[in-house]
Amino acid sequence: MIKVRVPATSANMGAGFDTFGMALKLYNEITVEECSTETQIKLVGGKLDNNYSKNLTYESIVKTFEYCTEKYKGFNIDMSKADIPMSRGLGSSAACIIGGIFAANELMGKKLSVDEMLSIAVSIEGHPDNVAPALIGGMITSIVKDNATIYSKVNIKSNLKYEVMIPDFKVSTYDARKVLPNTYSRNDVIYNISRGAMLISALNNGENEKLRYAFEDKIHQPYRKKFIANIDEIFNKCREFGSYGEFISGSGSTLIAVVDANNFSFNTEIREFLNTLASNWKVIELEIDNVGAHEF
Ligand code: HSE
Repeated sequence: MIKVRVPATSANMGAGFDTFGMALKLYNEITVEECSTETQIKLVGGKLDNNYSKNLTYESIVKTFEYCTEKYKGFNIDMSKADIPMSRGLGSSAACIIGGIFAANELMGKKLSVDEMLSIAVSIEGHPDNVAPALIGGMITSIVKDNATIYSKVNIKSNLKYEVMIPDFKVSTYDARKVLPNTYSRNDVIYNISRGAMLISALNNGENEKLRYAFEDKIHQPYRKKFIANIDEIFNKCREFGSYGEFISGSGSTLIAVVDANNFSFNTEIREFLNTLASNWKVIELEIDNVGAHEF
């Protein structure tokens, strides 16, 4: 029996649409064992998945077995311990995919390299920004070229923590991608290249004062703001309470404020403000996870 823990992830991080992502210390656990009977999947709350062939973790396990031309019959899968909220921009789908691929690889005796597991994951998810940090940990920047994903782990010198603000409403990634334009002006492209490059360099040098500019973006957030009530007011308050930068996590609905590890007042202040709004917001203070998916 294989037990895998996979971290939540936050994609885009401002300017890095479909490119940057980081793993956070919030986890789903999945247990997988092969069986000679029909597959059974236990979901959160103990309910069984009666449409298991459409289950993303199952699909990812099967795809990995097929990639290795290994035979299989069925699997007992337990995914009842899941702390990553669904459809909130925290990589719950990526965690299902990586959990499945990682567990399948362990069951087959670790036949695959990290690069191979990542390329299977990208072929399922369509973009690398969640699956890469979910597998590898840390903050990752990725390029997809032909069928390969080339990635690099960002060396973060700054001592930061992440205030993860999760509302009670969901945003569908499908809808949030549909509202994006097909083309962008040269100015908008330069705007994002300059911010994205600044983000990597400032994090690498520990230049926290430059992070204020480095999380800005003109590729996706201006078009997606409408899905998140009060976003401008929330970001203004985050600045007032001392955050270095704020962004929509993935395609939303979660928002993240990046704060100094020594800022001890932010969490209480932002909670009090969010409690005055119509939607219910939960705030979790998280650190980056530098390990990625692992057996435990
Ligand atoms: N980069 C993706 C997006 C992440 O923003 O649409 C969500 O899956």
